[in-house]
Formats: sequence, structure tokens, C-alpha cells
Amino acid sequence: MTTAVRSVRVDLAERSYSIRIGSGILALAGPAIVRATAARHAVIVTVPGVGRRYGATLTKSLRDAGVRVDRISVPDGDASKNLEQVKRLYGALLRFGADRQTVLVALGGGMVGDLGGFAAASYLRGIQFVQVPTTLLAMVDSSIGGKVGVNLAQGKNLVGAFHQPRLVWADTDTLRSLPKRQRACGFAEAFKKAAIWDARYFARIERDAERLLELDGPLIPVIAGACRIKAEVVRRDEREGGLRMLLNFGHTLGHAVETLTGYGKVLHGEAVAIGMVAAGERSEAMGFAPPGTAERLRALAARFGLPTELPLFPRSAYISALRVDKKMKDTRIQYVVLRGIGSATTARLTPAEIAPLSRSRGVSRRTGRRRSGAK
Ligand SMILES: NC(=O)c1ccc[n+]([C@@H]2O[C@H](COP(=O)([O-])OP(=O)(O)OC[C@H]3O[C@@H](n4cnc5c(N)ncnc54)[C@H](O)[C@@H]3O)[C@@H](O)[C@H]2O)c1
Ligand SMILES: [Zn+2]
Repeated sequence: MTTAVRSVRVDLAERSYSIRIGSGILALAGPAIVRATAARHAVIVTVPGVGRRYGATLTKSLRDAGVRVDRISVPDGDASKNLEQVKRLYGALLRFGADRQTVLVALGGGMVGDLGGFAAASYLRGIQFVQVPTTLLAMVDSSIGGKVGVNLAQGKNLVGAFHQPRLVWADTDTLRSLPKRQRACGFAEAFKKAAIWDARYFARIERDAERLLELDGPLIPVIAGACRIKAEVVRRDEREGGLRMLLNFGHTLGHAVETLTGYGKVLHGEAVAIGMVAAGERSEAMGFAPPGTAERLRALAARFGLPTELPLFPRSAYISALRVDKKMKDTRIQYVVLRGIGSATTARLTPAEIAPLSRSRGVSRRTGRRRSGAK
């Protein structure tokens, strides 16, 4: 069962931790969590669907390691990533008698990781926290780096903290139940990291895209590769002073697409794929990147079934949506551009310079609907 567990270290002095990635390792989480936290009590935070599938295995493994275990579910969906649910979690933690020796274990996707992580960061001014990601996006992206938080009615991720986990424990077998459309979103965030950082890693994903989408081929090394890049960027820039901004590649226009289409229609990774292609084109047009850069992004995204065309909205709508981008300083946006596949920098551009030129390029409002969400 447990073949080739990969380990990636996030090196942050006394806040350092390991990311472990392997097939069938969920049942081994208990002893690893005890080693990383010395906790005697764990509170698992999850959503019903994930809890039903994987909660029992995790609970048993913790109990066998001598840990008292409590569990609480929050309703599924990003709408639950809010302060009401944080309050509910505080109430549950108090009821369960959680103290500084308790570890909060987030079992699920990025929603649960961000929400549970924020509760862990703030309850009693911070308790220990472990991520058990069950979506590909959470494995390659959101579970690493310590950014936790919730949405407000006024916008996404407006309240949060930096709170590093003690351990990230990723069992790739859990991805079997994840719909392909969700998997593809994880691959978008993985090849985004390749695009800004490592041309060889990008080529490796290109070699095996279809097999990877089937959770076949070099899945574990590819996940580890994305984790390694994120770990390296976070190590150099834990609190987003500069370098970490490169991870926003594809996100500026991506967020605009999410805003314009209404959250949820185009999934985040899909919007990022569209944003990456557009940013690749801009990088070429500005002379940063050689011709063909955007085409490689487009071709790879398409092989994962990800959309690549900006949905059809008036240019003025894009400009307004870009104006509310929170990365905007003065009237310009730090826009991440590529120097080529594997290397990125930023350029300070106005919303008008980033927005698509005309409506003629977009093909469909329903960009996210190109593929079915088949399992
Ligand atoms: N903290 C960060 O650095 C960071 C980075 C990127 C994204 N995020 C956040 O992450 C969230 C998106 O993460 P996500 O895409 O994982 O979303 P998610 O947690 O909402 O999960 C997506 C869906 O998949 C389901 N699911 C989870 N695991 C499953 C499994 N193994 N099998 C079947 N279904 C499963 C979930 O119940 C949900 O319906 C957003 O809130 C975003 O803001 C945070
Ligand atoms: Zn993202």
C-alpha cells in the first residue's frame, strides 16, 4: 500500500515542518501527528462528504496512537468559509475541552484548511494545526505556506492570519473520489508553479498530462515538485513581501473572471488557467517572453480539460473588476509576467493595460462548462 512516500521540508526556522505525500498513508497519520505535535487531543475539522469517506480512518489512526479525538463538520462549499463558522468552531473547541495541547486537524480541501487553520490561529491565541489535504489543489497549494483565513460578504479572503501547520499529510488515494474537474484545478496550480519557477518541471508535466489527470504516471513526484516550489518561495518570503507575489501568476485576470462570472461557475483553477494564458500573451507582447510561451500554457491547460479563453464581457467590465484587485497599489497592479516558461517577474500595469483588448477573442460566457464534472 504505502509505496514511495515523498517528503518536502518547509524550512522556516522554529516553524519548519514536513509535507509528506504518499499513496495509502492516511492510516498512518496518527503516529506522525503525535511525533510532530506531541498532542494528546485532536479535533478534526472536515466537511460531511470528506468526513464520511476518510474520517474513520484518520480517527482510528489517531486513537491507536493514544490521542483523544473529537470531530466537527462544517457545511460544504466556500460559502462556509466565514466568521459564523469560525465562531461555531470556537464553541466546539471549548466544548471538547481543547487547550494548548490540542491539535486541530483540517481534513479536506482548501476551504476546510483555510477555515480550520484560522480557528487554530486565533483560538487561545493559537493552537497547533495539521493539514490533511484531500483535494489536489490543497495538496499542491493551499495547505502549504501558512496563509489561513475566511471570506467576508465584501470579498474573499479579507480576514486571515499566517499560521504554519506542524505537518502536512497528503494521501494521494483520497484523490480517487475527487471529480476530474476538481483535479484539473489542482494541476492548474501545479503547472502555474512550474511556469514561474522551473522549466524542467513544466516539461515533466507536459510529458504526462493525460496520465496525471487519471492519477496515474508520476503523480507523487509531480505533487512533490509543486510542494517543493511553494516551500522554497515561502521559505524566502514567508509573509508575502515580494517573491511570494509570483505565485499570483494568472490570478489577476483569474480573479476578474471569477468576479464577472459569479463565484462558483468557473472554478478557481479554471479561472487561473484562463488568466495564465492571457498573462502569457501579455508577457510576449511586452517582449518579456519569447513567442510560443502562451501557446505552451494554452496547450497544457487544454490537455487537462481546463478553459483557456477569456469569457465574453465588455472590456470596461474587465477594467472595473481589475480595479478592485487587492494587489493594486495606486492605480497600477503588480502584474506577474513570464520571462519564458520557468521564470517570472512583475510589471506595474494599469487595469487598462491588463484587460483584454476587444470582445472578439472571448468565445463563451460558459467557459467553465466545457467539460462535464464526471468522476
Ligand atoms: N491558503 C492558501 O494559501 C490558499 C491557496 C489557494 C486556495 N486557497 C483556498 O482554498 C479554497 C479552494 O480549495 P479547494 O479547491 O480544495 O476547495 P474545497 O475545499 O471547497 O473542495 C472542493 C470540493 O471538493 C470536495 N472534496 C474535498 N476532498 C474530496 C475528496 N477527496 N473526494 C471528493 N470530494 C472532495 C469538497 O467537499 C468540495 O466540495 C478556497 O477557499 C481558496 O481561497 C487558499
Ligand atoms: Zn490560486
